[in-house]
Amino acid sequence: MAKKNTHQNDADGNQEAGNPRRDFLKQSTLITAISLSPGALLKAADAKLDDKFAAYLEKIPLSLEVNGVKHNLSVEPRVTLLDLIREQLSLTGTKKGCDHGQCGACTVHVDGQRVLSCLTLAVTQQNNKVTTIEGVADGEKLHPLQEAFIKHDGFQCGYCTPGQVMSGIACIKEGHAGNDDDIREYMSGNICRCGAYHNIVKAIAEVNKEGLPI
Ligand code: FES
Ligand code: FES
Repeated sequence: MAKKNTHQNDADGNQEAGNPRRDFLKQSTLITAISLSPGALLKAADAKLDDKFAAYLEKIPLSLEVNGVKHNLSVEPRVTLLDLIREQLSLTGTKKGCDHGQCGACTVHVDGQRVLSCLTLAVTQQNNKVTTIEGVADGEKLHPLQEAFIKHDGFQCGYCTPGQVMSGIACIKEGHAGNDDDIREYMSGNICRCGAYHNIVKAIAEVNKEGLPI
């Protein structure tokens, strides 16, 4: 009795499926191709990365106001508001402490709200109004909270002070400076490694009592 053929033949008469010799040849050809062309694979991956990197570095037009001055800039998408302020606008009063949103040294105001500029991408600030520590005094006249920091010894090395002042002004405007506990709570994002906290609270409480200028 003739043996039943379970495979179909293709145009060349080869069996279409289930041919162990053919499967073996296919697999070994694939393995050879991969082993002979790692450079080509890497090149293709590199080209993809280059495209992504180029997009990453491509500058984007950005208009924003800083301390009342309008700026039309070109900014890479990866640049933070902190780096833009310090490096492109040379306003170095705003400090880089941790660069990770943990110390508050980089606090600025955007449209009246306090933000951590190290966690804010500059390109997201299109047409916004930014105020830095350089923008709070009235010419030669210091802001009342700056005066109060001096009066109450609210700093030692001063590195955290610009962020403390910007946060303190916001804290008063937000209505979170009614008592010392509130001030401590709402200023808790601003770290002072010199430990000037007690005097910072006194300065903010005093200005809150006297009222901020508009
Ligand atoms: Fe932004 Fe520390 S530098 S929170
Ligand atoms: Fe030195 Fe605050 S005054 S870190």
